[in-house]
Amino acid sequence: MATLWEYHGSQFLQQRFQEELSYWNRERLSPAFPSDMTADRFDRDRRMLRLEHGFIEELRAEVREKAARAPTDPDGFIAWFEGLKESGPGQHDPLFPWLAQEASRDEIRWFLSQEAAGEAGFDDLVALTQVKLPPRAKLELARNYWDEMGRGNAKGMHGPMLSQLVDILDLDIGIDSTAWQSLALANAMTAMATSRCHAWHSVGALGVIELTAPGRSAHVAQGLRRIGLSGGERRYFDLHAVLDVKHSRDWNDEAIAPLVAEDPRRATAMAEGALIRLRCGQRCFEHYRAHFGLG
Ligand SMILES: [Fe+2]
Ligand SMILES: [Fe+2]
Repeated sequence: MATLWEYHGSQFLQQRFQEELSYWNRERLSPAFPSDMTADRFDRDRRMLRLEHGFIEELRAEVREKAARAPTDPDGFIAWFEGLKESGPGQHDPLFPWLAQEASRDEIRWFLSQEAAGEAGFDDLVALTQVKLPPRAKLELARNYWDEMGRGNAKGMHGPMLSQLVDILDLDIGIDSTAWQSLALANAMTAMATSRCHAWHSVGALGVIELTAPGRSAHVAQGLRRIGLSGGERRYFDLHAVLDVKHSRDWNDEAIAPLVAEDPRRATAMAEGALIRLRCGQRCFEHYRAHFGLG
């Protein structure tokens, strides 16, 4: 487990940097006009790209050894990858049974405000990651994206479904009121999806979300039911408790396995991406438990 002094030693794992990176991500990914590209903007983009790369390098350093031990043949790698569900960083965190069974409405609201702010938009991450991927993996990312889009039905889109819950519970999801751990999670996912040198990392990181989300979503859905939210209101979490089981299976079979079969180096990159994602999540859970005064 990481200790406080480790964070003090990092220029990246801290509030100010993660806020800056979050604001930059919001700005650079927003649709804009040619006139928005000022000289200052180019300078800032260049500076932030280098810092973002340094941030991911630091996260890689934390997981590199473990990732290097992952098998690089397709079957062996899938077995290792699926094993992360049981024993990956942050799995089976006691925060989730507590949210399901004990947390008050306000405690659940605070938790969800951090989580919603730390949600980089799975749909956009998939869309950014699929660029120039080989056809079979690209098709799987397309199917996954189509589900994110509610298969063409606005009411079934996952992103707006979460936004609705944010409105219902009147959550504050501003960058300034979000812990750096949650911002770092979103920023790491965005960095991996936007920089092509981390494309395989992103495939691994997105795949491990599909693998591990159902367990957490079921607990959150249970907590929301307990505090009186209707089926419609809890839909985002009820849906992901079930749908992501299928998404994970398909992602592993149709994206990860064929990509690793083509080039075994991708297994190590995907392992790093998955471990980076889980480690970022683990830091969030530790922070949330400390915030709630849990052990
Ligand atoms: Fe989703
Ligand atoms: Fe999914």
